[in-house]
Parts: sequence; structure tokens; C-alpha cells
Amino acid sequence: MKALHKRQPDNTAPSSAAGLIIRQKEPKNLEAPFDRIDSYLTPTELFYIRSHFPTPDLDRATYRLHIDGAVRHPFALSYEELRSMPCETRVATLECAGNSRVFLVPQVQGAQWELGAVSTAEWTGVPLRALLERAGLAHDACEIVLEGADRGMPKEEPLPPGPISYAWSLPRAKAIAPEVLIAYAMNGRALAQDHGFPVRAIVPGHYGMASVKWLTRIQAVREPFHGYWLTSDYAYWASMDGKPVRRALGEMQLKSEIARPRVYETVPANRAYTVCGAAWAGETDVTGIAVSTDGSQTWAEADFLDPVRRHAWRRWKFDWLTPKKPGRYTLLARAKDADGMLQPDKHNQNYGVYVINHSLPIEVFVHDSEDS
Ligand code: MTE
Repeated sequence: MKALHKRQPDNTAPSSAAGLIIRQKEPKNLEAPFDRIDSYLTPTELFYIRSHFPTPDLDRATYRLHIDGAVRHPFALSYEELRSMPCETRVATLECAGNSRVFLVPQVQGAQWELGAVSTAEWTGVPLRALLERAGLAHDACEIVLEGADRGMPKEEPLPPGPISYAWSLPRAKAIAPEVLIAYAMNGRALAQDHGFPVRAIVPGHYGMASVKWLTRIQAVREPFHGYWLTSDYAYWASMDGKPVRRALGEMQLKSEIARPRVYETVPANRAYTVCGAAWAGETDVTGIAVSTDGSQTWAEADFLDPVRRHAWRRWKFDWLTPKKPGRYTLLARAKDADGMLQPDKHNQNYGVYVINHSLPIEVFVHDSEDS
């Protein structure tokens, strides 16, 4: 995923060749240029942004994080107090559950994300479980509700009776897992405002909606929290004893994406071309990646560029000798996880307009090298 920078002829600093792609201007829904991101960690200015309401403007001096509900000792922390606690730094890939929606045919409602509602960063913060321990989490608390400072009227039916905040709930087991952070830094710097300044949750392995930005309240509850975002919006049809039941989305599903070539890219015939991309999973590891350059008739193993690291993507590459015969070709990538599961070849309708994790066809045009 190498950016095609050309060195400037003089000594002026080259401006970044890439920028974010607008899917919606306000509230901000901006996609990362997936084909231009070369690095393991996505530069912060190229990390996708997915916000449901206008970005709140929080002041670090007056900021408070409240930890309450089903706990023995509710308390509140200032920004400085949070930053003075023992911290951890972890790499995690966030993917919006609606990423790649534009590949669904026929077209469905919602932001038309292509390949870039996914990015990877290094996050620094305090493990949520340290805060819950300090608060004395009740033994019968079953979920932890994370609430952001942003508010508004959402869009998906059924609508709530009035404006609501953005809030997501984690099952207790995930909330106390060591990887879940209450983060204040991203790629070594204070969080950018659009990414949740001053404090956000990072829930590695779960779709991005769990990583609540502008976090102001952590509330332990004794009954499952059926808030708007977990029911009207980010929900899917699961099966219970053969009967469909509505459940909130959670764990990210196995997926790989091709970064280059791009959709409808023109490539010369009978030449070496490096196909590249990234693959990721939720609570398991990606262990294999295969590429097809003939519309899934045959598959060949590709090479990983990054080692296995739970909750982080692995970039990969595949050396392709482009066909001698000009024409239209379809490329696909297919990831395999540690349990031997393969990335699916079609969208699971039970997920509706979310979890678009099937192998995405990338059509390219091979043209006669003589024409170039
Ligand atoms: N947190 C708040 N408070 N408000 C939001 O709209 N969007 C969620 C999540 N956290 C959201 C939020 C969704 S749907 C995603 S995919 C991630 O934030 C995106 O995080 P990012 O904008 O830093 O990439």
C-alpha cells in the first residue's frame, strides 16, 4: 500500500498525497484512503471518522469521567487523574460495522462506505477493568454501559421519543478483559477531537461502535441495556433454538480487503504487479490469506507482511504476473483464521446492512503493454 509520492524538485516539504474521503460532511463520516495507506499504523490524520452527531467540544480542565451504577464506591475522575493512573499501550484495528456497504447489490440505505472504514492505531489508556475494580463492581452487574457526551436525534427506525446520547453496552466478560482501554492517546499523542478527545473507550476485537468516543460515564447495570444503538441500529438476527432473535453486534468478523489494485484500475498485460491489502479478525488470529485473480476459480497463497498480533490487522502482498490477454479480470482475497474458518464468499443477510465481510470482488482492466 505504498503511496505514490513524487519527490518535490525543490526543498519544500511535500504535502501529504492522501486525504480522507467524505461520505457525509456533517456529522462527520470520513473514509480512510485504503489504497494509499502504506504503514501498519494508520496516520491519525488518515484514520476514518464515524460520528452520529456533531463533535462535542469538551474542555480538559472541567472534564469528568463518572463511574457509577452497580458498584460499591462510585467515583469521578478528572483528565489529569486518569492520565496519572498506570496505563497500557495497545495496537488495535477498528472497523465500522458498515464498512464496504457500497459492495451490496442492490444498494442499501446508510453511508456508502467503500474499503476505508477500517484503520489501525496504537492506543494508550487505563484498562477499564482497573476502573471497575476501584469502583467495586457488584457481583451481579451483567453489563457496562459506556456513554458519550454527544447527543441528538438518530435516524434509524424505530426512533426514540426524543434526543439521546451515544451509548453502547459491553457484556461484563468483555468489559473486564485486559485489552479494553479507557484511552486518552492515539499514536502517541492526545486524542484528536474527532476521535474522542479527551477520553474514549477502545474495545479491541469488537466493531467500532463499541469504542465510545467523548466518554463521560461508565455505568454498571444489573439488567441487559437495550438502548437505541444496540436495538434499532447496530443489531442483527441471531438464532436461538432455531428461532430468530434480535441481538446487538459485537465481535468483528474475519475479513480481508484488497488495497491495490483499486476498483477498475488499468494494469498492463504480462507484467509483475504486487497485489496488496490487509486482513483482520475479532477474537481470533488471521493465519492464512489467499488471492484469486480469475474470479475465484483458482486461489494462491499470499504472504503476510506483519506478524500475528491479536486485535490488529496483518498487511499482506501477492506477486501477480498479469495475464497476457487483455480484458476484464476479477481479483478476490480470502482470509483464514486460527480455527480454520474461511472468509465467506457472500454477504450473510441476517446482518442486514452491516458486517459486510465476504470476499469483495475487485474488477480491473488488463490492457496491452504496448499501449502504455
Ligand atoms: N462514540 C460516540 N460518542 N459517538 C459516535 O457517534 N461512533 C461509533 C464509535 N464511537 C460514535 C462513537 C462508531 S459507529 C465507530 S465505527 C467508531 O466510533 C469510529 O471511531 P473513529 O471515528 O475514531 O474512527
